[in-house]
Amino acid sequence: MKRLTVPAIRKQKGAAPLVMLTAYTVRTAQLLDPHCDMLLVGDSLGQVIYGLPSTVPVTLDMMAAHGAAVVRGSYHAVVVIDMPFGSYEASPEKAFESAAYLLKQTGAAAVKLEGGIAMAPTVKFLSERGIPVMGHVGLTPQAVNTLGGYGARGRSKVEAAKIVADAVAIADAGAFAIVIEGVIEPIAIEITRVVGCPTIGIGASAQCDGQVLVAEDMLGLFERTPRFVKKFDDMAGRISAAVASYAEEVRARTFPGPEQIYAPKD
Ligand code: KIV
Ligand code: NA
Repeated sequence: MKRLTVPAIRKQKGAAPLVMLTAYTVRTAQLLDPHCDMLLVGDSLGQVIYGLPSTVPVTLDMMAAHGAAVVRGSYHAVVVIDMPFGSYEASPEKAFESAAYLLKQTGAAAVKLEGGIAMAPTVKFLSERGIPVMGHVGLTPQAVNTLGGYGARGRSKVEAAKIVADAVAIADAGAFAIVIEGVIEPIAIEITRVVGCPTIGIGASAQCDGQVLVAEDMLGLFERTPRFVKKFDDMAGRISAAVASYAEEVRARTFPGPEQIYAPKD
């Protein structure tokens, strides 16, 4: 199967919903890839893989290393890499340098960055120079220090209008898709209706053009239960049970058994 392309993703608006999950490692990428249109190497890896308190400390080199692993583990989905905090906000030129580095180091097809009206010139600059950009509006976790937390956005009329204007600005600037995170549902529906590119919801609406979740969250592997996460499995429970069995067998000397040991030929 040939790898999907960014233009194919863009064209899918109004057709079948787009399926997207995060992936940070090669094995996860291999397992998710056949089911997904896009894999996101999210900067959420800061918390999920590295135990950091937010995505703010994540570096370009962390994103490059994990991005390369995910590209190596996938052959079907479009791989999108998050630009980490501090690597793109200062200027379109700085953003281009960072994004080009990520694409050169990993072989991924696109980057994602957070922000609205303020980032529109950057989205345009990159898009016009060969770097497809996915936007991200609403709850933007890299702005936790200005937002003050991770609560849903857009509960006031003023804030709702600002989020819609943000999405329209980056769509007009050439974003090929937009993640809408953590907003009251009418905002997600309105954005999906007014922008020409696909919207990808997370804590948004089933009416978005696609959905994304952190894979570890939906697998029940990570200790995080925001309202928008549905646990499709309890992998943490299953891993605990498997490890408990291993520990028990080691302590009882029943592992390794005859099948796992090398016997002499005669
Ligand atoms: O970093 C991330 O995982 C994300 C998604 C949840 C949209 O940005
Ligand atoms: Na992110």
